[in-house]
Amino acid sequence: MILRKIAIAVGVVSVAATCAFAQDPIQTRQAAMKFVGGAAKQAGGMLKGEKPYDAEVALAALTKMNEVASVFANYFPEGSETGGETTVSPKIWEDMAGFQAAVAKFEADTAAAVAAAPADLDAFKAAFGAVGANCGTCHKAYRVSKN
Ligand code: HEC
Repeated sequence: MILRKIAIAVGVVSVAATCAFAQDPIQTRQAAMKFVGGAAKQAGGMLKGEKPYDAEVALAALTKMNEVASVFANYFPEGSETGGETTVSPKIWEDMAGFQAAVAKFEADTAAAVAAAPADLDAFKAAFGAVGANCGTCHKAYRVSKN
C-alpha cells in the first residue's frame, strides 16, 4: 500500500497521525510530495557528484516517484482547495484535466526512467533529465510558492 510506504518513509508519523493522514487529502498529498522531494534529493546528491552513483539507490528513488505519481491525482477532491498548510493553486480545480495530464506525464516519465534502469551515472543523468523537468513545470502551473 502506497500510503503505508509513505507513512514509513516520512518516519515521524505516529499511529494516530496515520489515521488522520489517510483521511486528510491535503496532508496525504503533501506527505507524498515530501517523499518525492526526499527521493529527488538522493538523486541530486549523485547527479552533483556529492555521492557515488549507486544504481540501486537510483532505481529506488525513481520507483518511489513513480508510485507517488500513480496515486497523486486521487488527493485533490472538491473542498481541499484550501485548508491546512496547502500550497495548491486554485488552477488545479479550474483545469482538472490539465492537472491530471501533468500527473500522468510525471507517471509516464518516471515509469520510463524505471524501465531504463540506469546502470551508470551518464545513463541516470539522461533518464532523470525528463523526470526532473516535471517538478518545476507542474509546480509553476499548479502551486503557489510560499517562497
Ligand atoms: C503533477 C504535478 C506535480 C509534479 C510533477 C510534482 N509536484 Fe511537487 N507538488 C505538487 C503540488 C500540487 C504540491 C502542493 C501540495 C499541497 O500543498 O497541497 C506539491 C508540493 C511539493 C513539495 C512540498 C511538500 C510539502 O511539504 O508540503 C515538495 C518538496 C515537492 N512538491 C517536490 C517535488 C519534486 C522534487 C518533484 C519532481 C521530482 C515534484 N514535486 C513533482 C505537484 C507536483
